[in-house]
Amino acid sequence: MSDAAFLPKAVLVTGGAGFIGSNFVRFVLKDVPDVRVVNLDCLTYAGNLENLADVADDPRYAFAKVDICDTDKVIEVCREYHVDSVVHFAAESHVDRSITGPGEFIRTNVHGTLSVLQAARACGDLRFLQVGTDEVYGSLGETGYFTEETQLDPHSPYSASKTAADHLVSAFYHTYGLSTLITRCSNNYGPYQFPEKMVPLMINNARQDKALPVYGDGLNVRDWLYVEDHCRALWAVLLRGRVGRVYNIGGNSEKTNIEVVKAILKHVDKPESLITFVKDRPGHDQRYAIDATRIRTELGWEPSVDFETGMSKTIDWYMANQAWMDRVTSGAYQTYYEEMYAGR
Ligand code: NAD
Ligand code: TYD
Repeated sequence: MSDAAFLPKAVLVTGGAGFIGSNFVRFVLKDVPDVRVVNLDCLTYAGNLENLADVADDPRYAFAKVDICDTDKVIEVCREYHVDSVVHFAAESHVDRSITGPGEFIRTNVHGTLSVLQAARACGDLRFLQVGTDEVYGSLGETGYFTEETQLDPHSPYSASKTAADHLVSAFYHTYGLSTLITRCSNNYGPYQFPEKMVPLMINNARQDKALPVYGDGLNVRDWLYVEDHCRALWAVLLRGRVGRVYNIGGNSEKTNIEVVKAILKHVDKPESLITFVKDRPGHDQRYAIDATRIRTELGWEPSVDFETGMSKTIDWYMANQAWMDRVTSGAYQTYYEEMYAGR
């Protein structure tokens, strides 16, 4: 069974202005009383403070514009807010960008994770949750599932950098006794995802009657999880996970890419003729599928939103927030920080 529950009072969320991080910050502020949340993010192209506009004035929330590679600054923020735990999301996260520019992935995902681990140690052994990905396990054929014991076999520069980060986290547990936890989650979808990722990109193109670019034959399989379910899983692991352990998180919802794209088109009532098959991604993993038995049996977590419900909520959100999408795709969102924080 898990250790006795840890009760965080002040959580440092790295990468809280990104897709999952912003959903996590909102989830904690809305669902958990008496916890402070400090969002530490340097606002790369993927960081957008507008994602948190509705909670920015919550007295339990604070934002620090800091690069995770700057260990001294991370330590300063942890001390200023008396942080007792870290949920480490900050990363370069897009596989296609890692293929064209792997160096930034090593800097952020490897050096950056090392830096946050060092800060966690320097601040008196903060509980450290590494938000990892199932992509570290490599690719499956038509059958089988990734368990926490599956050998790590990353295929893209992105997944290689996340694998290195997981190994560093594990090394800090074994070498220094840092209270670490690692999660490995399948593909997330939901509000506030940057529209370079498949789901929001396809919704954005469909609404504008643009071609929907499907890589290869569209038969690659991903296991889709609604982002709020991921946030709940992370909170359960942070509080009740067994220190030193890895927890897989998955949606029990395997779909081919073409199935996802067709579901989106059907929901927005656009024709399948918009689908365009394009050149495949190099090293494109064929199938990911998660065995999430451990988190279910140890922590009682299960996905609560099925694919049809989650996808329809997601599409409705993007259609209701087209101005958000327009500001992101035009680059206008990048001035939000200056406008929002000017004079504060
Ligand atoms: P994202 O790209 O939307 O957000 C990343 C955030 O990190 C941005 O706000 C960015 O500004 C920030 N950041 C990047 N470099 C930084 C640095 N040097 N210093 C401070 N902040 C920095 O990513 P996401 O999709 O929300 O993913 C978050 C985490 O979850 C990542 O670690 C990713 O590997 C993991 N993950 C994602 C998925 C998924 O489906 N998106 C699935 C499993 C795991
Ligand atoms: P993506 O959202 O980039 O997530 P990941 O590569 O981390 O799984 O891609 C999801 C799947 O969709 C993946 O198999 C690649 C495919 N894809 C397309 O077919 N077209 C696209 O334009 C994109 C961005 C992805």
